[in-house]
Amino acid sequence: MSQMISVATGFQYSVNIEYDLADDDKLKNFIPTTAALKLLEEILLSVRPNSSQRARILIGAYGRVKSHIVLTILAMLMKKDLKLFEKLLPKIKAAPSLYRLVENFYAGSNKILPVIINGTATNLNQSFLSALQKTLADFGLANLMPETNFQAAIKVLARWKKNFPKTYAAFKKLIREPVNRFVARLENFDVDAYETFEKIYPDLTAGSAFNPFLGFGAVELYESVAKSLRAEGWSGIFVVYDEFSKFLESNIGRVSVSETKMCRISPKKPIAAAPLKCTCC
Ligand SMILES: Nc1ncnc2c1ncn2[C@@H]1O[C@H](COP(=O)(O)OP(=O)(O)O)[C@@H](O)[C@H]1O
Ligand SMILES: [Mg+2]
Repeated sequence: MSQMISVATGFQYSVNIEYDLADDDKLKNFIPTTAALKLLEEILLSVRPNSSQRARILIGAYGRVKSHIVLTILAMLMKKDLKLFEKLLPKIKAAPSLYRLVENFYAGSNKILPVIINGTATNLNQSFLSALQKTLADFGLANLMPETNFQAAIKVLARWKKNFPKTYAAFKKLIREPVNRFVARLENFDVDAYETFEKIYPDLTAGSAFNPFLGFGAVELYESVAKSLRAEGWSGIFVVYDEFSKFLESNIGRVSVSETKMCRISPKKPIAAAPLKCTCC
């Protein structure tokens, strides 16, 4: 029996999209199903510049290959070498319209960055933002993120000025220049100014660390990053929320209106070729 059947090297009981994205064996070992081919076709159609139906939810019992299918499709959207899709490619070639779609996608300028959010985090906004930050770091694009940190610092200063005059006054004393000039430096992406702010912040806030994600809308940030990504050769962002049901299970009682809105707004907003994708299991 063992001569006829072997277990794929590195086999795991489930696919972790984020970690397995770098694992080419997962692409080589993917055995295409009819459902996978159909989803691939739908998604390739949906990332065309003028299409609008970009968000979808995959629902299926544990182990029904949702994550592995999505992983494979993401690898295609990133334009990984077609040769890696060893078992999938022959099936694609056997379906002329799908093959044309794949060929056109690879020939075109679309290349989509995958952002993967997983599981049980409690704050949707924060998970969207930290997943984006992690992806950018993983792809050597971390420099696209600081702009937002600068903006966040500027917003904090404006809030202190308006609502916390004592903190604002204390801040003024700690920097050695007029606040206006300091803010102008932040606006100009001056790293020294940002680091000064980060260093002073705990002294003024009873020891808390400056978390640039607080008070910053994920939709706004994704839009900004999607724009700057174009100069780096990426045409958009593809967001996958894997195991979204786990998030719902642990948070259903407290999901805020703004978080619900976020899920609804993101896929409709045409931020480059940026669909929101949730996979539920
Ligand atoms: N058609 C297939 N090709 C390759 N691996 C498969 C296939 N079907 C199931 N598997 C394997 O089964 C396991 C479960 O798949 P996974 O995508 O994690 O399921 P789900 O996300 O639906 O819970 C994974 O290890 C996956 O690699
Ligand atoms: Mg899964």
